[in-house]
Amino acid sequence: MRSFLAAAALLAATGAEALNVHGYVDANLNASLVPEVLAQSYSYIVVGGGNTGAALAARLSEDTTKTVLLVEAGTSQISNPGVSVPGLAGSTFLSEVDWAFSTTPQANAQGRSVYWPRGKMIGGSSGLNFLAYTRGHKSEYNSIAWLSRDASWSWRNLLPYFKKSESFSTPGPNTENVTREFDASVHGTSGPVAVSYPPYISEQFAGGFFDGLEQEGVPVDIDLSDGASSGVSWSASTQSPENVRQTSDNAYIAPAVSARSNLVVLTSAMATKITWSADKLNGSVVASGINLVATASNTTILTATASSEVILSAGSIQTPQLLELSGVGDSSILNPLGISTVVNLPGVGANLQDHPAIVLVQKLKPGFVTLDGLAGDRLNQALADYAAGSGILTQELSTLAYLTGKQFLTPAEQKQLAKLVLQPSTQLPASQQAQQLLQIAAGAPIIEFLPINTYFGPSAGVANESYISLAACLQHSFSRGSIHISTTNPLTPPAIDAAYLQHPADRYILSRAGKFLRQLAVNSTLTSFVESENEPGLSVETDAEWESWVEGAVRTEYHPVGTAAMSLQNESGVVNSHLQVYGTANVRVADLSILPVHVSAHPQSLAYAIAEKAADLILG
Ligand SMILES: Cc1cc2nc3c(=O)[nH]c(=O)nc-3n(C[C@H](O)[C@H](O)[C@H](O)COP(=O)(O)OP(=O)(O)OC[C@H]3O[C@@H](n4cnc5c(N)ncnc54)[C@H](O)[C@@H]3O)c2cc1C
Ligand SMILES: *[C@@H]1O[C@H](CO)[C@@H](O)[C@H](O)[C@H]1NC(C)=O
Ligand SMILES: *[C@@H]1O[C@H](CO)[C@@H](O)[C@H](O)[C@H]1NC(C)=O
Ligand SMILES: *[C@@H]1O[C@H](CO)[C@@H](O)[C@H](O)[C@H]1NC(C)=O
Ligand SMILES: *[C@@H]1O[C@H](CO)[C@@H](O)[C@H](O)[C@H]1NC(C)=O
Ligand SMILES: *[C@@H]1O[C@H](CO)[C@@H](O)[C@H](O)[C@H]1NC(C)=O
Ligand SMILES: *[C@@H]1O[C@H](CO)[C@@H](O)[C@H](O)[C@H]1NC(C)=O
Ligand SMILES: *[C@@H]1O[C@H](CO)[C@@H](O)[C@H](O)[C@H]1NC(C)=O
Repeated sequence: MRSFLAAAALLAATGAEALNVHGYVDANLNASLVPEVLAQSYSYIVVGGGNTGAALAARLSEDTTKTVLLVEAGTSQISNPGVSVPGLAGSTFLSEVDWAFSTTPQANAQGRSVYWPRGKMIGGSSGLNFLAYTRGHKSEYNSIAWLSRDASWSWRNLLPYFKKSESFSTPGPNTENVTREFDASVHGTSGPVAVSYPPYISEQFAGGFFDGLEQEGVPVDIDLSDGASSGVSWSASTQSPENVRQTSDNAYIAPAVSARSNLVVLTSAMATKITWSADKLNGSVVASGINLVATASNTTILTATASSEVILSAGSIQTPQLLELSGVGDSSILNPLGISTVVNLPGVGANLQDHPAIVLVQKLKPGFVTLDGLAGDRLNQALADYAAGSGILTQELSTLAYLTGKQFLTPAEQKQLAKLVLQPSTQLPASQQAQQLLQIAAGAPIIEFLPINTYFGPSAGVANESYISLAACLQHSFSRGSIHISTTNPLTPPAIDAAYLQHPADRYILSRAGKFLRQLAVNSTLTSFVESENEPGLSVETDAEWESWVEGAVRTEYHPVGTAAMSLQNESGVVNSHLQVYGTANVRVADLSILPVHVSAHPQSLAYAIAEKAADLILG
């Protein structure tokens, strides 16, 4: 007690703020503390303790003259093995830590609704993802800088923020004895997020997929973090050298909570809207805080107040939902729902871009180890191996390939694609299309190929058989979808129209990518591992058959962005380059919804970089 008082006196002397109630408070488990939590005033409220939001809240709390409330609908899952063990990624799909959204029936994909998992926990989707750590191509960041008219978002200027978040470990030994090179100059070594390479590499990945692509003439890219992704590579992973998954929970928030008393992490609490002050500031609306509900059955609307800023980090799906519920959005969408428009901002929820994916499935010859049918004794053995630092559960993805059109299309196909990408579309802003063409010219990859160590199809494999799934994921969709509310009930998910295959270039690239992966399976070093093709199956052969199969198979690589784009206001922008929502005095967005155009990467690295940069912007 005495040392506590001494510390408090010291903090007071330096202008530090200590909150009476601080640390983790769960709106259900600690319901009696909630009134006191909400009676406290905060400098900043961060809505959504996901990949970006939890990292941002932790950084903001480093300024001990400020107080921070982080509001998260889920709870901490640090001790959930489905989260912490890399090879168990995917096992938490459809569980309580998954929002389990679905798209609307897709007009160009045979009317199917597509399942969209998203993380509902502290750490958000960083706790549900497949751990791959990549950054994309510098031309994509230069596009983001151009579209936001701010050079501070260029590759060169953002790189320090990637490094600030990262603690990179040199690759250690691995089961296939492959040499994994890297470029030390692009990695950080003292940030919160441990990035390392899994010790286990499947032989069908190394001798099959990786070598097979090399045989097809694809170059080896030593490091997918260097801003020049091109070729087949060994992928780094957000896991510690002890193979524990890194999320913005264990990397950022948990250490911040134990170090500081100016931070409250309110879990099982869902923000329902931003509340507004009666008076405007200089013509802009001023947020006073948020409304929220505990996620259990008590739906009484509660209020939290922010003296300085409200920051939305609810992700690409729920950030536009919250803006619209708060009256910020396209008035022609808000008015029919009876929501009065606070700021008419048509870009909210527009401009949705995903990485659409197709997945081929090949049955392996007997004897290869995969995650298929991992249950019972085999699972127990795998968990024991994991505890000893080895085996298949220490990895999730280990090799990825990012290819330009030249690297996988025939010359005739390249010519055809060059025509298709010029086709205008009403949904695609001309400025974005122009940027995407510049990216292609600059050598940015258009497709990603990745092998998955199990039957990753719509149906399950046959027991006792093992499979390799080969995904092709479009990196720069020319289609543009939307995410809008369809009701004023904040507990009803918004309508997600992914607009898959809206633009003909998308269908073309994915179908030709499918053909290429088939070729890899039947005529490369991969062939010696493969017994037969389950999906789509050899009856799909002609270009027309591939295209129609793609319509029935297209799904998500789980990378939606763009629904609160950082662009000029007259170019469907929602936030300016300081992440401030147009027409508001003190509301920002910090999550992947701000990307005006996509990057050719698994984007969690960028969510961390955005958090780091946002903290600098906010704290000045
Ligand atoms: C299955 C899957 C696999 C993936 N694989 C990879 C990969 O291997 N590598 C990679 O780099 N990326 C991967 N990604 C993508 C990456 O994880 C996400 O793009 C990224 O984590 C998104 O970060 P975010 O901060 O924008 O949103 P999120 O991390 O989704 O955070 C949003 C948070 O807000 C909370 N929230 C939402 N609404 C409210 C509300 N109203 N009130 C309170 N809280 C709210 C949510 O619960 C969530 O915690 C994958 C994603 C998924 C889903
Ligand atoms: C919240 O409730 C949990 C479970 O009852 C308890 O362990 C924890 O100490 C409580 N937290 C606080 C801040 O009182
Ligand atoms: C890797 O190297 C070790 C030690 O030389 C050897 O025993 C093992 O067979 C090698 N593994 C592969 C897959 O080549
Ligand atoms: C008010 O807006 C004007 C014009 O946009 C700007 O020059 C001024 O700095 C603003 N004042 C404040 C207090 O933000
Ligand atoms: C619901 O929460 C409110 C606000 O905390 C409280 O006043 C009310 O008693 C609660 N209702 C029930 C049924 O627990
Ligand atoms: C399949 O696996 C089950 C459970 O491990 C086992 O009992 C059965 O014999 C196996 N069948 C074949 C054909 O290998
Ligand atoms: C298989 O690949 C080789 C080169 O790797 C090529 O020469 C041959 O034509 C291919 N065969 C088929 C059937 O495509
Ligand atoms: C938007 O405004 C900027 C100047 O502020 C201008 O350069 C740009 O051309 C405008 N874009 C459109 C689509 O009108």
